[in-house]
Amino acid sequence: MTKILVATEKPFAKVAIDGIKEVAQGAGFEVALLEKYTDKKQLLDAVADAEAIIIRSDIVDAEVLDAAKKLRIVVRAGAGYDNVDLAAATAHGVCVMNTPGQNANAVAELALGMLVYAVRNFFNGTSGTELMGKKLGIHAFGNVGRNVARVARGFGMQIYAYDAFCPKEVIEQDGTVAVSSVEELYSTCDVVSLHIPATAETKNSINYALVGRMPKGGILLNTARKEVINEEELIRLMEERTDLKYITDIMPAANATFAEKFAGRYFATPKKMGAQTAEANINAGIAAARQIVDFINNGVEKFRVNK
Ligand code: 3PG
Repeated sequence: MTKILVATEKPFAKVAIDGIKEVAQGAGFEVALLEKYTDKKQLLDAVADAEAIIIRSDIVDAEVLDAAKKLRIVVRAGAGYDNVDLAAATAHGVCVMNTPGQNANAVAELALGMLVYAVRNFFNGTSGTELMGKKLGIHAFGNVGRNVARVARGFGMQIYAYDAFCPKEVIEQDGTVAVSSVEELYSTCDVVSLHIPATAETKNSINYALVGRMPKGGILLNTARKEVINEEELIRLMEERTDLKYITDIMPAANATFAEKFAGRYFATPKKMGAQTAEANINAGIAAARQIVDFINNGVEKFRVNK
């Protein structure tokens, strides 16, 4: 029987697992679970007889692929697939997919929730500010960025976006202003919300010069990836600019330094929470299971991300 392994260090909600099982078992596949694992060895053992794996931010590298002798497909239940070694997967003849858009609303709701928390001074009893009328810059207008724009519009924010790959007409169709450069986005906006993937081009790209363009009281909001931040330069900038805040759902490598130096201007969730809702787990988990069944039974490669 074809075995699908759900390998999630950060588990899905139970309802999502029930949904994955229903789809997989309905197609005659078997489902195995490896949740909350603490050691890579557990993953290496669990993948040995799996033909398909569903993961979240779990690392699938060449060692995991070597250990997965029967593997045909890995589906990252979520958007970003920087945790999968795509070249190694291709070399092993393994198809890699993601499930774009399935957790976007969850991440967008968290982004606005974190923003309210920041402008209300982390609920410390002092007077904060409101979001209405403030300028929100969306850095990359993909599924999450678009959902952030939709939710922020409800707060009465003025929305701007920059996306090198998205046509201006698409950005502007529901009232978002498309700026012509990333520099303009940061110079214009009171808040910048990051939605870029972690790639060779974007890693360390959010740096002193760029964030330093933000107006007084600027807030940098990160629900994307920690790797896109040049942490050393952001620390230097926040030391000089005592008006800036950094709010993140992905704990920086230098969390202790940020926390110590920037009390009242810095917040990081202890674990990435953006996609951690029952609804997002159900959407992404079931989409992953369906994509696996379609790939194995019918050769459907929609959402494939490796060549
Ligand atoms: C994604 O890329 O889909 C998000 O960062 C969510 O990641 P997670 O599934 O590890 O919570």
